Amino acid sequence: LSEIGLSPDTVLQLAPNFRTRFDAAGHVIVDSPVGTIVDIGPRGFAILSMFSQPLTLGDALEQLEAQLGGSTEFAPMMNVVNMLIEENTLIVSAAGRAPTSGWADPIEHARMLHDDRRTHDFISALTAALQPGDVVLDIGTGSGVLAVALARAGARRVYAVEASDIAAVAAQVFEANDVKDRVTLIPGWSRQIELPERADLLVAEIIGNEPFEEEILETTLDARRRLLKPGARLVPHALELLARPLWLPEAEIRQRVFGRAAVQRWRDLYGMDFQALLDAAAKDPVYTVTEGEVVTTWPPAGPPVVLASVDLAAFQEASVRAVTDLVVDPPGPVNAVAVTFRAHLRDGITHTLDPWKWPSSSWATSVWVLPEPVEVGPGSALRAHYLRRVPGKPDGLTVEIVDSPHQDDAACSRQR
Ligand SMILES: C[S@@+](CC[C@H](N)C(=O)[O-])C[C@H]1O[C@@H](n2cnc3c(N)ncnc32)[C@H](O)[C@@H]1O
Repeated sequence: LSEIGLSPDTVLQLAPNFRTRFDAAGHVIVDSPVGTIVDIGPRGFAILSMFSQPLTLGDALEQLEAQLGGSTEFAPMMNVVNMLIEENTLIVSAAGRAPTSGWADPIEHARMLHDDRRTHDFISALTAALQPGDVVLDIGTGSGVLAVALARAGARRVYAVEASDIAAVAAQVFEANDVKDRVTLIPGWSRQIELPERADLLVAEIIGNEPFEEEILETTLDARRRLLKPGARLVPHALELLARPLWLPEAEIRQRVFGRAAVQRWRDLYGMDFQALLDAAAKDPVYTVTEGEVVTTWPPAGPPVVLASVDLAAFQEASVRAVTDLVVDPPGPVNAVAVTFRAHLRDGITHTLDPWKWPSSSWATSVWVLPEPVEVGPGSALRAHYLRRVPGKPDGLTVEIVDSPHQDDAACSRQR
């Protein structure tokens, strides 16, 4: 904490401009003042209400310790406090203005501008999709790059919506690039704003490292219902999740999960029993993100397959329940599953996150790490189940080993 300038005496309070809501699974979701979306879990309101009056960090920890000390909920609740500080929802009382972070931080937008494959793919697709006289909605304009490109390509009007404080920079970018007369900046969350007219074309580059975490589904559904003309064109217009089995080196695994082998190793090393530590740890695959340059050094244990596919112009519910069988080739051990994406931007133009082909990207790769490695033998497959905002179920990816369909049987059943 001292590293980020906090001490037990630091007085924290809730930032004035954040939004909360429940998701379908009953988690409290915070739309933070820096434009990020933070899942603070089913008991998130308890933490927020602790800070309804300014409170020192030390007192907050004491209260949590008193309520939850010794329970397995203590660490997750501490993690929530940490996330709220990092995402500027809890701010230092005396600071006046919160430090810049999240999407308000210029470095985030510099990283995306450095990713010229991404930016060119989007600009090419938008240029191809744009028709004379179009009104365009750019949700999450960020640095304003796509809005400027659209104005230059001939859009009649671009409504550039941005939730975070980077909107102030976008305003200057529009002025500096002489598009101020055709681009209207609308600060705020797209789901809370109104437009003076409906748009013919939507661009929403709000694909996260976990592809759905920036709520592209919720935001696109709302835009389709309130902000777009019927039949409006969308960029991207479809999003596929791709899953690929992996074998991570032991040193990488140790940073992320541990299982029975680790407990045995500590027993051998120290003569002590740490089964309790294992009992308290996650049982399902653990979500992590890793830069593509690192992921590219990890051997894939099989080819990528489509895990889920969403037609952004047609889907009706912002939840995803998907299942697919991953081929492990050659048969052998698997200890992680990478989930990347392919965004269909415009006929023939796609943008794929594939660290083995293009290690350098502004997106980090989602890697779900299995607490225990699994051995996938010949004739078996690794079945991946993926859930996102399914009522009553936690979000995440789980796996099981299944018999893979026998080729000859499949051919037989087709003939019948
Ligand atoms: C991945 S960045 C893309 C920025 C820019 N369009 C580009 O391509 O470089 C996403 C931006 O969208 C903003 N954002 C995400 N969801 C939003 C929403 N529903 N309404 C307004 N802004 C949003 C974030 O604050 C962030 O600045």
